[in-house]
Amino acid sequence: VRRLELVLLLVGYGHVGQRYAALLDEVADSLGFVCRVGGIATRHHGSALHPDGLDPSRATALVRDDQSLDRLDPAPRERTGVTFVQAGLDLFAAEAAEGRLVVVETTLLDITAGEPAISHVRAALEGRAHVVTANKGPVAFAHRTLDALAESVDRLFLFEGVVMDGVPVFNLVRETMPAVRVQSFRGVVNTTSNYVIGAMEAGDEMAEAVAEMQAKGIAEADPSLDLEGWDAAAKAAALANVLLGGELTPRHVERQGIAHLTGRDVRDAVQQGRRLKLVAGGERDAGGTRAWVRVEALPAADPLAGLQGVENALYLQTDLLGEIGIVQRTGTLTQTAYALVSDLARISQRLRGM
Ligand SMILES: NC(=O)c1ccc[n+]([C@@H]2O[C@H](COP(=O)([O-])OP(=O)(O)OC[C@H]3O[C@@H](n4cnc5c(N)ncnc54)[C@H](OP(=O)(O)O)[C@@H]3O)[C@@H](O)[C@H]2O)c1
Repeated sequence: VRRLELVLLLVGYGHVGQRYAALLDEVADSLGFVCRVGGIATRHHGSALHPDGLDPSRATALVRDDQSLDRLDPAPRERTGVTFVQAGLDLFAAEAAEGRLVVVETTLLDITAGEPAISHVRAALEGRAHVVTANKGPVAFAHRTLDALAESVDRLFLFEGVVMDGVPVFNLVRETMPAVRVQSFRGVVNTTSNYVIGAMEAGDEMAEAVAEMQAKGIAEADPSLDLEGWDAAAKAAALANVLLGGELTPRHVERQGIAHLTGRDVRDAVQQGRRLKLVAGGERDAGGTRAWVRVEALPAADPLAGLQGVENALYLQTDLLGEIGIVQRTGTLTQTAYALVSDLARISQRLRGM
């Protein structure tokens, strides 16, 4: 039997994009579809489109060697993210019309407006490609508009990797909790801060722990986004928008980070039987939807207090299921890349009428 083929346009090819391309290859035999990488775009390492598909391992070698991807393109030209998406839509117009073209967005989080990622997503959907992304910007700043656009062109806009990597949060609620209304959420969703606070409890300096998270590719490219609570605020906005029907941006989230904490603050809390955690929360209230990120000194009995290292957890208060919890104990790039694989699998299931 011939397996369904999806054509992918990768916008962004850094830690996440490269690990994703490699993981697709590793799990190829367990997927009910095959993938052809039709194009890859970066900001400083050029871009390439090829009708027959590119070899991701060659692309990875070029980028790691600080060379340009243009060498893989039969007719290279300078393109920004949006013009790359448009050129890809032209080249793969037939696949787009059949619903087999997917734009995979893994560029950097822009905390001022979610751009240019939102423009990448919009251009893709307008050209009738599906979109999967691990970038918080589009869903944190423009979920409602992009979701409506996707619906209007009968394509999917999926973003499981935005919160807790590949551990299902959005897909869990959307796919497996019909008729359930989420009333509020509360969780530890920024891996870098949790790791840093834990390391400070053990006597390490904040800067050392941040450097470790950078070396693992987990901290944001600009780690102040983690330490000042912006990453968690973007996730809180995404959760509030999707699970609570809000229309927030990260700027609407009441925000506190961990940058001001000293080793003494962290260890004093431990001495009092508590642990400091950067907690993100959100709820529906009379005025609509509200979300926040703040440092809390949690007593040991709190289910978020025991999280160690790179662990994340999210608790949802619901009407029909009461409180449910989702815990992620492993957080490496493989889990982030897996989120994009799981979103792609959903697209293939839809195409196959499953
Ligand atoms: N790392 C994680 O653990 C993790 C987990 C969950 C979600 N995420 C999210 O995933 C996204 C990617 O993270 P990452 O760690 O892979 O970042 P990264 O290593 O810095 O890679 C970012 C990639 O995007 C490219 N890029 C940036 N701006 C672009 C533009 N305007 N047009 C085209 N390409 C552009 C960069 O190109 P150049 O390198 O050539 O400049 C690079 O290839 C971020 O939004 C992040 O928040 C990351």
